[in-house]
This record gives sequence, structure tokens and C-alpha cells, in this order.
Amino acid sequence: MNNFQNLCIYFILSFTYSFVICQDIPEGRSEHASALINDKLYFFGGVTPTTDTSNEVFYIDLSSTFDILTLPFKKVSIGIPVGVNLATCVSSPDNSAIFLIGGRMTSTSTAIYKFDPINLQWTIPIINGFNSSFIRNEINIVIDGKGKSYIFGGTDTKTGTTTGNGQLFYEMSLFDTASLTWSALTLPTDVLPRIDYTATLLPTGFIIYLGGETRLTPSSASTFTSLNDILIFDIKLLSWSNKTTSGITVQPRYGHSAVLSKDGNIIIFGGARGSAQVYPDLAVLNTNTWIWSVPSNSTVNVPPSLTFHTANLYKIYMIIAFGRKTSQVVVRPYNYSNNIYIFNTATYSWVSSFNEVSQGTPTNSDGAATNKGDLSTDNGNSSTYKIILYLVIGIGCIAFLSGLVVCYKKCYKNRTKIEKNLMSEVSDLHDKERYSNIVI
Ligand SMILES: *[C@@H]1O[C@H](CO)[C@@H](O)[C@H](O)[C@H]1NC(C)=O
Ligand SMILES: *[C@@H]1O[C@H](CO)[C@@H](O)[C@H](O)[C@H]1NC(C)=O
Ligand SMILES: *[C@@H]1O[C@H](CO)[C@@H](O)[C@H](O)[C@H]1NC(C)=O
Ligand SMILES: *[C@@H]1O[C@H](CO)[C@@H](O)[C@H](O)[C@H]1NC(C)=O
Repeated sequence: MNNFQNLCIYFILSFTYSFVICQDIPEGRSEHASALINDKLYFFGGVTPTTDTSNEVFYIDLSSTFDILTLPFKKVSIGIPVGVNLATCVSSPDNSAIFLIGGRMTSTSTAIYKFDPINLQWTIPIINGFNSSFIRNEINIVIDGKGKSYIFGGTDTKTGTTTGNGQLFYEMSLFDTASLTWSALTLPTDVLPRIDYTATLLPTGFIIYLGGETRLTPSSASTFTSLNDILIFDIKLLSWSNKTTSGITVQPRYGHSAVLSKDGNIIIFGGARGSAQVYPDLAVLNTNTWIWSVPSNSTVNVPPSLTFHTANLYKIYMIIAFGRKTSQVVVRPYNYSNNIYIFNTATYSWVSSFNEVSQGTPTNSDGAATNKGDLSTDNGNSSTYKIILYLVIGIGCIAFLSGLVVCYKKCYKNRTKIEKNLMSEVSDLHDKERYSNIVI
């Protein structure tokens, strides 16, 4: 009977434990949107192996460190009112709200939603001058310190169709998140619209657009833009200009990510060309000299090659999340990552946690690129580690909890004994207690 009870408790505890561990683990995904509010990094929607347009919201809390082998995701109980992928989002400068803009939405009644991360509320903001027929996806937004945001180009390609076969918009949309007003600028004739580019706002007020696809005429086929021709928008003068870069060759790509490091460099990661992997995975553009370089050839803690992942800068760390794995030869079905990778932008090295001492000294002198195609095995290893880690933690917790239960039962038994003793014989209570304590 006692053994049976213990067995039952054991199973209940194991079940509870595995439930707690499993409930917040997101499916791998890509084409999601991300935004940082204080110490929380939020992820919205995306494509997963089971849906083209997820409405799920996850976050990771960056105020405490974690290891990249664990999955620190928490699911937000309230999903987006619509499923969405290829959207963009931005947090207001006062950190009170996230605006989710555009994307391929399961309902097109509005293209802008506002998320209040404190009260967990989604609302449709009333925006002056906003045309509710606005449809835009494959876009990337930037916001300045006053809450003015900028959305360049984009397409109206519908869900379930091939990327880039809708029309492109010859427009720069301006959304003031502080006054909730919307306006648009038509592109000058020498600026072509783009999709799946990155947008980085420099302190000088220049937005740097890198990569992505364009069309030479509205009806021609999509072509990849060169990473040597940098398109620049000046948010003070509302004017466009060009810059030619030098340095290493960075292959054209879309679905890559970009962050601005504290020392003024733009760090790009990943991307793909026609779903195939591009080189190098990791590159840095110096925004003073406009020279491209590869900052690290380390193979430690390095992500697999990814596209349509996200990258956000938190303090000195670039945090890469999710994404579709790419390889030289495109293999379907696609593999999606649900991992986090951390790049220290002060030491230019991939690390396994925030406080890890740098391991980033370049490991290979043969000049090989970051990815050698052997990264999938690396990833396989990390998931094995993860399982082992969970098992160890799981067994530890079960042992601890079982111990508690056993202790409790013993205490209870002893108490019963004491009570019995008290009833059966009139004797010194303190002695009995001392006696019962010794028995334990
Ligand atoms: C809103 O956008 C739609 C589709 O682009 C367009 O047909 C319509 O004229 C626009 N409405 C206004 C008031 O600009
Ligand atoms: C960018 O450079 C190309 C050629 O180098 C030129 O034709 C084009 O007009 C420039 N665009 C802008 C916006 O300056
Ligand atoms: C996806 O995973 C499968 C099984 O591990 C592998 O055979 C395939 O090559 C992977 N595809 C990509 C694009 O990484
Ligand atoms: C990494 O390899 C590339 C390509 O060979 C090289 O240009 C670059 O200098 C290397 N970077 C570092 C930090 O060693």
C-alpha cells in the first residue's frame, strides 16, 4: 500500500514536472517579428511546421542570464488577434507599447495592432491619416527617439504564395507612434523599392538599408540587391542617397538580420538566396569607412545558417532567435530553429550566456568561413545536451520532492506516535519529543 502510494506520487510529480518543462517550448519558426521592451524580448507570430501564420506570442526575460542550451521562452497567454508572418514591429520609446505592423495576416481588417505588455491587451489604434486598406509585408521598421517610425517599400504578396510575387510599393510610410499620425512619401525615380531588407538607424539620422530584393521596373522579375550598394534615407531631410562599400564580398541575400553595435558597426547575420545558404553568415559594416569584414571565424557557440530569424541588441549582446535553417542545397521540408544564440558585440564572439568569459578568439587560420556545413551535427549535439540537461534536472527535482514527501510522512508518523504515547502514559513530554526526534 505504502509503495503503491509512493509510486502514485512519483508519477504525479513526473507528470507535473514534464508538463511544466514542456508547456512553454515553442515550435521552431521563421518570419516572426521581435521587439524589446525593458528586459523582455517579445516574439510575434511567424511560420511554423504546423501553420503559415501563427498568432502566438513568446518572450524571454533577459534580466537573468540563461544558457543557449536551455530554451528560456515564456508564452504570453493572450495571442495576437490575428495570425501573422512577415510583419514588423517596434516598441514605443517610452516602452509602454509594441506596434505590430503589416505582414500576411489571417484577417485584413487592419494592418496595425498595439500590444500593451503590462496589461496584456491588444487594441487597434486609431491613427490619423491611416488608410485601413494598407497592406504591406516583407518589411522592416525603424523608430527614432521621438517615436517617429519609417517603413520602406514592401509588398502585398498573399499568404500561401511565393515570396516576392505581389506588387512592390514605391513608398516610404511614416508612422508617428507618439502623435498617432500616418503619412507617406513617394520614392524618387532613382530609388527602387525593396522587400526583405534590413533597416538600421544610425545616430546621425541616416537609415541604412541593406540587402533584400527589388525590381528594376514594377513588372520585371525580382532581383537581389548588392550588399556593396548601400541605400540611405536621411530622416532629417527626408532625402535618399547612395554609398558604395569595399572590403570582403558579402553575398546578396534576403531574410538576414542587422543590429547596430555600440561602436557604430552594423552586424549582419544569415539570410538566404532563393532559400539557399549565403556567405559569409556573419559580417560587419563599419559605418565610418564603409568597409565590410568578417569579425569572427570561431566555431564555438555559433548558430546554424539561418534566414528569417530575428536579431535584437540587448546591452552588448546580439540575440538571434528562431529562423529557418538554410543549406547549400535547398532541402524540403524546411527545418525551423527554436533556439537562441548570443553574440557579444564588444568582443565580437559567440557566447553561451551573458556572463560567459569570451571564447571568441578566431579558431581557424585556414580562412574558412564561419559555416562549413557541419553545423547541423553541432545542432544535433546541442539538442542531445538539452535532453540530458532536462533529464538531470527532472530527476533532481523528483528526488527532492520525493524526499520532501517522505520527510513529511515520517514527521506525521512520529507526531502520531507522540500523541499515542501522550495518551497511553503520563510522562515527561519533553523526553518523548526528544525520543521521537532521535528516531528520525
Ligand atoms: C486606401 O487604399 C486603397 C488601396 O490602396 C485605395 O484604393 C483607396 O483609394 C485609399 N483610400 C484613400 C482615402 O486614400
Ligand atoms: C545610386 O547610385 C547609382 C549608380 O551608382 C545611381 O544611378 C543612382 O542614381 C543613385 N541613387 C541615389 C538615390 O542616389
Ligand atoms: C533538415 O533536417 C533533416 C533531418 O535532420 C536533414 O536531412 C535536412 O538536410 C535538413 N535540412 C536543412 C535545410 O537543414
Ligand atoms: C575570417 O575569415 C575571413 C575569410 O577568410 C577573413 O577575411 C577574416 O579576416 C577572418 N576574420 C577573423 C576575425 O579572423
